[in-house]
Amino acid sequence: MTLPELAAHVIQQFTKTYGRAPRWIAAAPGRVNVIGEHTDYNDGFVLPMAIERYAVMAADSASSSPSSSISIRDTAEGVEPATIDLAAPVKPGKPKWSNYSRGVIAGCLARGISPGGLDVLLHSTVPLGGGLSSSAALEVCTATLLEAVTGQQIDPVEKALLCQQAEHEFAGMPCGIMDQFISVMGRENHLLLLDCRSRQTELVPMNDPSVAILIINTNVKHELSGSEYPTRRKQCEAAAKTLGVPSLRDATADALERVRNKTDEVVYRRARHVIGEIERTLHAAEGIRASNWPTVGQLMYASHYSLRDDYEVSCAELDAVVEIAEGIGIKGGVYGCRMTGGGFGGCAVALVKAEAIDAISREISADYKTKTGIESTLFSSRPAAGATILKG
Ligand code: GLA
Repeated sequence: MTLPELAAHVIQQFTKTYGRAPRWIAAAPGRVNVIGEHTDYNDGFVLPMAIERYAVMAADSASSSPSSSISIRDTAEGVEPATIDLAAPVKPGKPKWSNYSRGVIAGCLARGISPGGLDVLLHSTVPLGGGLSSSAALEVCTATLLEAVTGQQIDPVEKALLCQQAEHEFAGMPCGIMDQFISVMGRENHLLLLDCRSRQTELVPMNDPSVAILIINTNVKHELSGSEYPTRRKQCEAAAKTLGVPSLRDATADALERVRNKTDEVVYRRARHVIGEIERTLHAAEGIRASNWPTVGQLMYASHYSLRDDYEVSCAELDAVVEIAEGIGIKGGVYGCRMTGGGFGGCAVALVKAEAIDAISREISADYKTKTGIESTLFSSRPAAGATILKG
């Protein structure tokens, strides 16, 4: 569904649920990271794009009293509605999914952005738990809705950081800044090269009609994803300490080799991934600027192997997708493929020839089913625009 179609759908659903039309509508996209994985919390570079999948929220002032609460209903079946009381300090609570919105509302209130009671309808087309940042989309959508309601604008960097803080403090996930930044700052037909240290951004055009981004959802999510992430962060900090640098952004492959014998073997491999991945990301940005697709594709494969072998955040299903894609090769229209996002399941991303996308999708889907017994979900997306107010 396009954004206008989504807006029309949400207006209809809101009217059905609350018996009147919504006054405000906001949308924020999910993202796929083309390259630069597990580099954001190491002050490195990332190169994601926003995708044409969105969290959308429609709202009106609360009709019922007490009107000092925000009610959020989800259009998906079986999702428990949330009521967030604004009369008391906003704290983490139930249902669990509401913590992304709770955290953002708390952050907005602390900045004097006070929406008052609201009736909200949420509709998301970002696959949940697929490594496409459905949670960042929900956070950024909540912040954008509050901007629409109050007429107060939050500076984009501050908005992304506010959403990241919500994820840290209300969802207990010590994420980096990539997901929230791209959901706020995405631009149509552009990737976002983000320097996670300086927070400077560069929009890298990606509008060559001969290539397309294909997203392959393995439809598995291994439990490890939550617990392993903070462990990786700590291992990176340990490596930086051994190297005597503030973060792995400041380290080089040579410096790492020099301390290899006094570094724990696992910590060494984690650092090798991060140092290599930061370089690969900068090279990939150059490759994209030059439309050098074979080079970008090779960097994507290299990124995957490094995430699989050194960082150990891949899984059998993601490896199967990448192997199949590599088997198809450039001849069959695949330039490169890698896991995307935090890992342990979720999605892979492939750079493919646009003309071959249907044949490639059929082949990956069939071979993945044969190899794993699991049905995958595939879709392609152009780089999309960041969060927007659709009505208000
Ligand atoms: C998750 C986090 C991001 C980033 C990626 C890995 O998506 O939310 O901040 O660390 O994992 O690149």
